This record gives sequence, structure tokens and C-alpha cells, in this order.
Amino acid sequence: MADARELLDAGERLGPEELRALQLERLRASLRHAYERVPFYRESFDKAGIRPEDCRSLEDLARFPFTTKADLRENYPYGMFAVPREQIRRLHASSGTTGRPTVVGYTENDLSMWADMVARSIRAAGGRAGDVVHVAYGYGLFTGGLGAHYGAERLGCTVVPASGGMTARQVQLIQDLEPSVIMVTPSYMLTLLDEFERQGVDPRTTSLRVGIFGAEPWTEQMRREIEERFAIDAVDIYGLSEVVGPGVAQECVETKDGLTVWEDHFYPEVVDPLTGEVLPEGERGELVFTSLTKEAMPIVRYRTRDLTRLLPGTARVFRRMEKISGRSDDLVILRGVNLFPTQIEEIVLRTPGVAPHFQLRLTRTGRMDSLTVRAEARAGATPEMREAAARSIVTAVKNGIGVSVDVEIVEPESLERSVGKIRRIVDLRPRDTGRG
Ligand code: DLL
Repeated sequence: MADARELLDAGERLGPEELRALQLERLRASLRHAYERVPFYRESFDKAGIRPEDCRSLEDLARFPFTTKADLRENYPYGMFAVPREQIRRLHASSGTTGRPTVVGYTENDLSMWADMVARSIRAAGGRAGDVVHVAYGYGLFTGGLGAHYGAERLGCTVVPASGGMTARQVQLIQDLEPSVIMVTPSYMLTLLDEFERQGVDPRTTSLRVGIFGAEPWTEQMRREIEERFAIDAVDIYGLSEVVGPGVAQECVETKDGLTVWEDHFYPEVVDPLTGEVLPEGERGELVFTSLTKEAMPIVRYRTRDLTRLLPGTARVFRRMEKISGRSDDLVILRGVNLFPTQIEEIVLRTPGVAPHFQLRLTRTGRMDSLTVRAEARAGATPEMREAAARSIVTAVKNGIGVSVDVEIVEPESLERSVGKIRRIVDLRPRDTGRG
């Protein structure tokens, strides 16, 4: 790894003490910037009786109020900006599932910092200057495509801005342009896998060496599936529009042990989702981020709703976060038992005879909620194999999660395929009776 160390940038080379000093200095400046320039923060800090100068240590951050998605919605579209609109070079927006979108803005410096962080992420994944990088994250208001794009350019790569969709052409481009790196959602990677097979091309024979997958939760089982079927290294990239986009945290290819948080720019905390109390390192809870260097839209203690835990650094000085197990929004409470789609993914992917495609259907009869796991049979699976697969999933869910579900093994290629972020849960329960 000696030569890899030489590739590290100045932030990655900081010692632990230097890192903490830099974080505190940046944090104090960022809190001040937010307080002085954004009426929302001035109000919320005042209401909590706290001032930026009260932050004298990193632990003091816990005394500041949270920011939520609802706060961003209420300040739609430009209310959270800390610079005049003329200094905003780009906008992105996240659609969300309900209500107004949230708009985020970037100054020129913000875009440059973002490109640096994505470049750092691609390098941590094993990409190098000179590589051809195929970007199949959607381009547009979604931060995935353009975020990956400028990061790959910043690293010195040749970018193929494929965006999402037109799956047959993606396969052709991969064969012709010979990328070594692909950046795409894991679920769309599976769609590409089907297409390779449909075109009679062995996906293990492509030029691809590394896949950088994110924008949705995925599991170790999914990593194994993708790595085996494509003969690549599959690593995880995390981010969210409100904080910057992709490139907030990245898994290092040499360790594959969770995502290194680029905490010289994005300061993480994990809190108890119910009480908001900061949890000690290693405990699972809701991830909260504070930006340390953003100009256009500083964000203070943003509640991501993503569930994970923080762990000490391994490949880098920065702390790691465990793979996201799910979003609190995706939590299904079935007859009192909490369940995340990733738990079902783990089970489906280790069940022989079924393909890595599944959907969760929620229905309600009277007061009783039911969950049906619809999983696709692998091509060639006999009726006996399908039977056995269904039984094995029912048992594994019952024993592992503690709840009874129905399982339906459906025909190969019958479930809807992803072109971007996949929707695992189809909620067919009557709306007004509430969810969970
Ligand atoms: O999904 C940014 C992104 C693009 C990240 C491309 C990685 C790759 P949003 O559309 O704002 O931004 O959605 C953010 O997606 O809060 C998580 O719930 C989920 N998410 C993103 N990355 C991961 C990941 C982009 N690696 C929301 N694992 C976040 C699990 C992820 N969930």
C-alpha cells in the first residue's frame, strides 16, 4: 500500500490531533456563518439560547439544535442560502416522496470542494487518474450523475456520462469504451447484469475493475453477488443532497469495512432517533451531519434519518460508518416487529433458486397488516426449487426477524427493474389509517 499512501491528499494525511483542531476551527466558523447569514439558524439558535461562540469543543456541537427536512421545506426554495443568489453556481433538488422538493445550492468553492471529495472517494475505491469512468447515476436535479462526473474529472479520469436508462446502450458503451470504473446504484447494476446476459456477453469478461455503488441501501450479500457476477471490487459510496451529494463517505477498497466519513468537511454524529441524545461511538442510531466548509448552504446537525453507527478509522485517520441498514422512513412495523428491507435482502440473496430481485408488498385486512415478499425465481429453477425457496424464506424471516410473512416466488424477469434508486416497498394499505 506504500504507493497508495503517497496518493493521499493533505486532509487524509492529517494526524488525529491535527484533524480535531481543524474540525473545531471549521465548525466554529461554519456555525458563525450560518448564524450570521441565515435567518432560520439565527432564530433556531436564539430559541435554544445558544451562540456560535459557545462552541468551544467538538462535543459542544451537541448543544445546538437539529435541522430537519421539514425545516428545509419550510424555507423552500432559497431560504437556507447564506450567500446572495448571484453567487450560487448550481442548484440541485431532491424529490422526496411527498410534498415540496428540497432545493440545495452551491457556490463555486462548494462545487470545487464537492469535486475534491468525490475524487477522493473514487481514489479510495481504487480508481486512478487515466481511468475511464462510466457514470450511470442519473444526471439532472439528482446529485448522483453530476456529482460523480465532476469528481471523476477532478481525479483526472475520462468520464462517460451515460446517466440512467437506455440499458441496452449502456452495455454496448461498456464493451466499446472499456471503462475500468462504474458508478451506479446497486439495483441498476443488477438491471445491467440482466442485459449483459440477454446480449450473450459474459459480465465477468468486461474491462470493469471497480464498481462504486450508492444512493440506496445495499447489503454484504449484494456485494458478494455483484462482485462474483462481474468479477469486480464493489464498494459503497454515501451522500445526500442536503449535505452535498455523493462523496460524504466512501468505502476504501483495501479494507471494505464500512464507509470512511470525509469528516474534515462533514462532521458526523449518531443520535438516539427518539431522544436526540448523542450516542457513544459504536452505538447504532440516526446519522446527523454538520457541514464544516460549505458556503452556499451551511447545514447544522441535519437529521438524515439514516441508521448506522460510527466506528474508529482503519484505512484513514477519519472515522468510519457501518453500511446504512435503512432509513427510518423505510422501517416497516409489522405486528409490532421492526423490519428493514435490507434484512429481507440478506435473506433473499442467500436463498438458492431465487434471483436478487425482490419487492415487499404491504397490505391490510381489517386491522391486520401483512407483508408479502415477492422474489423472482432464477431462470431454470424447477417448481420444487421454487417451493423450497419460498419455504426457506418464510422460515428465515420467522427465525431471524421474528415475524411471519407470505412469500411469493414469481416468474424470472417479472418484477419491475430499477433504473436509479429502487423502491422496495409497495404499500397497498389504505392511506388514511396511517403507516406502520
Ligand atoms: O442519493 C446522493 C448519492 C448519489 C449518494 C449517488 C451516492 C451515490 P439523495 O437523493 O439526496 O442523494 O438521497 C440521499 O439516499 O439519506 C440515504 O437514505 C440514501 N443513500 C445514499 N447513499 C447511500 C448508501 C443521493 N451508500 C439518501 N447506502 C440518503 C444507503 C444511501 N443509503
